[in-house]
Amino acid sequence: MSRLVVISNRVAVPKARGAAGAQGGLAGALNAALRKNGGIWFGWSGQETDSFTGAIDRQTSDDGVTTATIDLEHRDIEEYYNGYANSTLWPLFHYRTDLTEHERQFGKGYERVNELFASAVRPLIEPDDVVWVHDYHFMPLGDRLREKGVTNRLGFFLHIPWPPTNLLLSLPYHERLVRTLLQYDLIGFQNDTWLASFLHYCENELGASIDREKGSVELDGRTTIARAYPIGIDYDHFMAKGETGDARQAQQRLMSSVRHRTAMIGVDRLDYSKGLPERLDGIARFFDRHPERTKDLVFIQIAPPSREDIESYQNIRETLEAKAGQINGARSDVDRTPVRYVNKGYSQEELFGFYRACKIGLVTPLRDGMNLVAKEYVAAQDPDDPGVLILSRFAGAAQQMQDALLVNPHSPDDIAHHIRLALDMPLDERKARHEKLIVTVREDNVLRWTDNIIGDLEGLAR
Ligand code: G6P
Repeated sequence: MSRLVVISNRVAVPKARGAAGAQGGLAGALNAALRKNGGIWFGWSGQETDSFTGAIDRQTSDDGVTTATIDLEHRDIEEYYNGYANSTLWPLFHYRTDLTEHERQFGKGYERVNELFASAVRPLIEPDDVVWVHDYHFMPLGDRLREKGVTNRLGFFLHIPWPPTNLLLSLPYHERLVRTLLQYDLIGFQNDTWLASFLHYCENELGASIDREKGSVELDGRTTIARAYPIGIDYDHFMAKGETGDARQAQQRLMSSVRHRTAMIGVDRLDYSKGLPERLDGIARFFDRHPERTKDLVFIQIAPPSREDIESYQNIRETLEAKAGQINGARSDVDRTPVRYVNKGYSQEELFGFYRACKIGLVTPLRDGMNLVAKEYVAAQDPDDPGVLILSRFAGAAQQMQDALLVNPHSPDDIAHHIRLALDMPLDERKARHEKLIVTVREDNVLRWTDNIIGDLEGLAR
């Protein structure tokens, strides 16, 4: 078994507690993989420094996982994290060319920080290590490591969608970016759709030879494996959270505040990709069509703020405040508000309790790499009386979760229609759908995901 070097922008502890629920699971799985294989987890500390000295902060947790982090200078955070990663790549890869910023300085900052990371992590890599890099922050990192003489097996996993070729062509220097990506030995995507877009680009824009059976891309004599590895939740760990007093208390607290009404829930980082204004429009449409049911329904939206230095994130926050206010202004009474809009994060225990208390889970991103809230919502249901998942057909998770109610998140009518279907769904149908959904949630879990990717990486010839 090879030692593992994991590289990601965020290390172990996410900043926003409960943001999309998912990070706890991913962090847990990577910690488990590191415990099993031994190794190190390298990334940004989330802290700013006046001047980067090359200092690495190494810490070893009680169960033996070592993290190594560096601080970044203000300019680097602005140009690399807020800039190229989150104002250029994130919107573009979520099909939002309207929000994509093309600033020369952002691209330069991204290159510079990738170079800096490569130099900092290089001395930590031992000859037989498997190196596993995560997400859009670090696409060129493998290439920079190769330049520094690293011949180890290098894997990359993209947690977000890969855009269709026609959209990617709007990115200056797109070809350079994808060519550097091909310096990895293995590239993983969340599902077949994103993988197909990537292969389409490589074939049509770079003239690479593609073997779709094997899942490989060959260019200039180098072969890279490109496959779909759908990420899952840390099922056993999450279920254990559901057994805690905190989870039960959270469930009780929510249920007693809702009383006889039916509760629907959404849990998302406050991000424009999550389709939150469109979701509220769908709920307002439902209330307009069924005024007699307004008093029977409560919608709880948990939305911890995210990437707050970026204008598009400030704008989406204002839009949501206005919409939630409008819906409630028009439909509240002295003893009831139809929408509870909450800008803070919760622990996994509390989220488990909230999911279980809610008879409908609304997961309606306009575009999403996977979306683990959908999987956590299903996991948290009572199998004897499960709630209904309403899921965007544009979430990566839709491919595995065909037994959810799949909706077009852009259409308020479609959302309203499916809320009515969910509310009126008989117990038998709810159970039948849940029984099928729980299989993929339980089996295709995050431990299997890490094993598959690390196994494939270890199996590659060097
Ligand atoms: C998405 C990305 C992750 C990122 C997370 C939170 O899930 O794929 O790479 O860490 O959002 O965003 P943040 O910018 O706070 O790290």
